[in-house]
Amino acid sequence: MTNNKFFELLPQNFQGFKILLELLDNIREAILLIDKDYQILFFNKQFKKFFGINEKNFPKFLYEVIKHRRLYEIIEKVFSTDEEVREEVEVEHPEKRIFLVTGKPVNLDLGSGYKDTALFSFYNITRLKRLEQMKTDFVAAVSHEIKTPITAIKGFAETLLEGALEDKENARRFLQIIKKHSERLNSLVEDLLILSAIELGELKLNRSWISLGEVFDTVITTLEEKARKKGLYLKKELKDGERIEIYADRDKLIQILINLVDNGIKFTEKGGVTLKYEDKKACISVIDTGIGIPEEHIPRLGERFYRVDKARSRELGGTGLGLAIVKHFVKAHGWKMVIESRVGKGTSVHLFIGG
Ligand SMILES: Nc1ncnc2c1ncn2[C@@H]1O[C@H](COP(=O)(O)OP(=O)(O)O)[C@@H](O)[C@H]1O
Ligand SMILES: [Mg+2]
Repeated sequence: MTNNKFFELLPQNFQGFKILLELLDNIREAILLIDKDYQILFFNKQFKKFFGINEKNFPKFLYEVIKHRRLYEIIEKVFSTDEEVREEVEVEHPEKRIFLVTGKPVNLDLGSGYKDTALFSFYNITRLKRLEQMKTDFVAAVSHEIKTPITAIKGFAETLLEGALEDKENARRFLQIIKKHSERLNSLVEDLLILSAIELGELKLNRSWISLGEVFDTVITTLEEKARKKGLYLKKELKDGERIEIYADRDKLIQILINLVDNGIKFTEKGGVTLKYEDKKACISVIDTGIGIPEEHIPRLGERFYRVDKARSRELGGTGLGLAIVKHFVKAHGWKMVIESRVGKGTSVHLFIGG
């Protein structure tokens, strides 16, 4: 720091000065003090970090470290208007960051000529901006998902009102389409409510010792009609007589398994879905003989609205939120989920529930 102009200009015998510098080095903002000729008078540690300054490239003038045009425009504005300027700036080097830059002229009496100086602070808002972007993207995705069923419901209701109601056969078909879309809308809102409760930190587990066999039975009872309609089997594999008890939130576990088995049924045309438990590995698996998932998609499953085939998922009444919810519930239990799949052969979702 001894190459710092600021040092030369201030009394060295002042202990408090050192403390002040120490404090400036420990704040989150980068601080920069320059004069009108862009000569650097002072910067703190954070500034060095943000702009990649080390002992080797220790700069005398600002243009040695900063090449960003927009920043110079801001600096010029500060010197020319004598007013505080506050702007968001995206910087590419040495790393992509977004800063809230505040600059203002300061009239420091530094004794030897450095009167026209300006102080700049750089607050890193990259993370904040990213969150903001995620929120905007999410709202856009939700609106898009909601729009599809609403358009269909509105369209078919209008067609019915415009006369299709008299045409008995078509009327029935249209009403069925309306029903299907309103059901999808309903699932969407339900899933969104669950996700928002999770994100508000309202996800509390109510754990107790429960019988896994009984949970499997509940899941099978809920979905056997759906499987039967597609001509698929739905079975459990638990060694006979083995009374396995696990420590879990019963309702959440049922929701997890219903989601997974439901996916299994939806994405399987031949064969079926098996619910299995392997005591040795402490692993619950949902195994199907369906279409499988191409490898490159697997890491992204569980992101909200991420689907291998959007049109197909919607057609099947899916919301694209099932796995996102499952992921949260699994994590809350401290379990691990692993998805294994082979295209054309089937998919297995494993839940490792051992501690
Ligand atoms: N068992 C499975 N077989 C094939 N693809 C699956 C399976 N489970 C999930 N997927 C893929 O993952 C996507 C996301 O699943 P999910 O979040 O449950 O949404 P949804 O069921 O509403 O489409 C599905 O749309 C599908 O592309
Ligand atoms: Mg699903």
